Amino acid sequence: MSSSYTPKLDEWPQEVRDLYDPVRVIGKGSFASVWMATQKEPYCDKGQVAIKIIKDDEYAEREIEILSELTSKHPHPNVVSLIRDLKAENGGVSKDSRSLSVRFIVLSLARGPTLNFILGEFGALGIVVAQSISRQLVDVVAFLHDHAVIHRDIQPCNIIVSGGMMNDDLWWSDTLDVDGKVLGMAQQCHITLVDFGFARALSPNEIDSDTWRNKITMDHSDTSIIDDSMSHKRVLDLSAVGTRNYAAPEILSGIRNAVDILNSSIRGSKCYTGHQLLKRTLTACASSYGMVADAFSVGATICHMVTGVPAGSDVDAFIAAKNHPLIKLARSLKKRLKKSKRIRAKKYRTISDLPGDVKNLIRGLTHRDPMRRATVRSVTQHQWIKKSTTAPLDMVHREPIAYLECCGHFYKQYE
Ligand SMILES: Nc1ncnc2c1ncn2[C@@H]1O[C@H](COP(=O)(O)OP(=O)(O)O)[C@@H](O)[C@H]1O
Ligand SMILES: [Mg+2]
Repeated sequence: MSSSYTPKLDEWPQEVRDLYDPVRVIGKGSFASVWMATQKEPYCDKGQVAIKIIKDDEYAEREIEILSELTSKHPHPNVVSLIRDLKAENGGVSKDSRSLSVRFIVLSLARGPTLNFILGEFGALGIVVAQSISRQLVDVVAFLHDHAVIHRDIQPCNIIVSGGMMNDDLWWSDTLDVDGKVLGMAQQCHITLVDFGFARALSPNEIDSDTWRNKITMDHSDTSIIDDSMSHKRVLDLSAVGTRNYAAPEILSGIRNAVDILNSSIRGSKCYTGHQLLKRTLTACASSYGMVADAFSVGATICHMVTGVPAGSDVDAFIAAKNHPLIKLARSLKKRLKKSKRIRAKKYRTISDLPGDVKNLIRGLTHRDPMRRATVRSVTQHQWIKKSTTAPLDMVHREPIAYLECCGHFYKQYE
């Protein structure tokens, strides 16, 4: 279920239509719909772009500002880049006939399925490809942390995988072969991190310099950011967001605290849309946690890749349930009925089947105690990440942190 606002094509503003020919919808998230579009001449060489259509609010503003500075001053091959952003005043009409302001964020087009799609279709990845993707993911998030940018929504839906041939068995291999085909395949695979809708660029005084964990210093007694008007039900509706399974435990307990606060202080005066409530609550719960919250999401994503089991599930119990004879029988009957064209059955790996160094990496990144959790920048030096021969990346991360110029622009008013 998605609450994203999608204007009809004839509602697209002329300014956007003058520059781009829409092709088709390529993605929908909780807040945005994303179109593939072709750039018109004479503006460019008919390249294709992705256009993210999103309600114009302070979160869209922040996403654009962070991506704009990253793209122009600190480009990274695994970070989606911003081409331009177009604001459409009255760019559509809501169900209750109010006019809406909409942003059309033009981004580099990442070709390929999301990691979420691949894992949903095929289950666990081969260890060689998983290692390549993990290395790229660790590298790109460490790069963001080098610039005091926290993403806060790292999950397989926000990772696009290009260059892999999903029907090729080499993709699912756990070992390298003598003629180097598996290695070649893993080297071709390239990830793009998208969706900076929850990202924040931290300023020096928001980072606790006493701890390299980079927990943000913040007055935890300030609950004003949790609006009185949010209903208990609305906050519980957060469970509809896929993000939940990849979110660090301290964020989830923040959500529970938000529910408690709401229970004791619902006054219900202001009117917010579900969309705004969702963003405000998630942001309120995540804002007091720093970069180690991203570390948990990176660890949960790696765990999903190598086990095939979605984050938040008990791996061994999930696999045992999948292997139950009755479930297997039902699956094979369904397959026969559907004459499924699937070439490859879904694969799962128990934790005990994982190589020791992968297990160790996942444990470090997903430690429930944020003070004992490994940081993303530190695991660039982890042996499983370092020994990957599949991604020739610059793994040297700078100290101290190089802050973005836009850090602190918005954060007095909106956490
Ligand atoms: N630059 C891009 N290139 C290709 N697909 C994209 C791009 N950006 C987003 N998408 C697709 O659109 C979906 C929704 O975009 P996203 O930015 O995640 O919005 P939301 O904030 O609503 O989750 C993504 O999950 C992905 O499938
Ligand atoms: Mg998303």
